[in-house]
Amino acid sequence: MTGATGLRIADLTVTYPGPRTGGLGRRSPITAVRTVSLDVAPQETVALVGESGSGKSTIARAIVGLVTPASGTIEYDGVSLLDRRHRAQGRDIAMIFQDPRSSLNPRMSVEASIGEAWHAHPEAAPAGARTDPRRRRDAVVHLLGQVGLDPDVAGKRPTALSGGQCQRVSIARALALGPRLLICDEAVSALDVSVQAQVLQLLVSVREALSLSMLFITHDLGVVRQVADRVAVMRRGELVESADAQSLFAAPQHEYTRELLAAAVDLDVSR
Ligand SMILES: Nc1ncnc2c1ncn2[C@@H]1O[C@H](COP(=O)(O)OP(=O)(O)OP(=O)(O)O)[C@@H](O)[C@H]1O
Ligand SMILES: [Mg+2]
Repeated sequence: MTGATGLRIADLTVTYPGPRTGGLGRRSPITAVRTVSLDVAPQETVALVGESGSGKSTIARAIVGLVTPASGTIEYDGVSLLDRRHRAQGRDIAMIFQDPRSSLNPRMSVEASIGEAWHAHPEAAPAGARTDPRRRRDAVVHLLGQVGLDPDVAGKRPTALSGGQCQRVSIARALALGPRLLICDEAVSALDVSVQAQVLQLLVSVREALSLSMLFITHDLGVVRQVADRVAVMRRGELVESADAQSLFAAPQHEYTRELLAAAVDLDVSR
């Protein structure tokens, strides 16, 4: 079935090879994600929270094809993302990572980094952007404008930019192929606190302007309150609770969610 159903993950299990144990070098696999089912509807923002190592990034990696699930299904608008042909075509989903510097090639100009996506997906390139350097520059400048960066950033390398500027470039690059869903994996947590709020605001305004859905992975429950329609709580590879954001904060059902909220209040001395 097709149609605008958004992201649908069902019974997802992902394992990694464990460390070698003993002299025989046998590995017992680590189950990082265990039978997780999670949907992100069109234009919905779902926050994925939970302690370190609970499997949040693994879910993100499975969605964008960076790890292969042991079992389960992942579909976007009814099309399986685990089918290699569809994955190769897939540009509905873009991901933004935690460290803006390591996700950009330091040897490439911003323009080249952004334009690269159009070579992999010519069908998504703005008219002439692959063949006419002036048109490519125009298309890049347009994207930079969408993320609040000046045209002259196009010719710079990541090393000449601040962390916040680099993250804006990563967002521009993520938008280059016209995605419908943005996955943000701790996308603001590596930035200075003052810059975090600005980049968060940018993500929210881009989401509104382009009617995107979002899977927003974060440790910061304050951020969750600001951005999420729904919250999914992970613990040790399992989804323990999923609820709309207001009811989750008002009346968490699971003991672990209550602990998580209480811990956040304890840490929140500065606000
Ligand atoms: N490449 C890997 N090889 C082996 N084990 C891994 C690998 N990546 C993650 N793991 C393990 O899988 C589990 C889930 O890790 P994951 O990175 O998905 O957690 P997370 O919720 O994103 O944590 P954090 O909040 O610290 O980013 C952890 O036990 C982790 O040690
Ligand atoms: Mg992670």
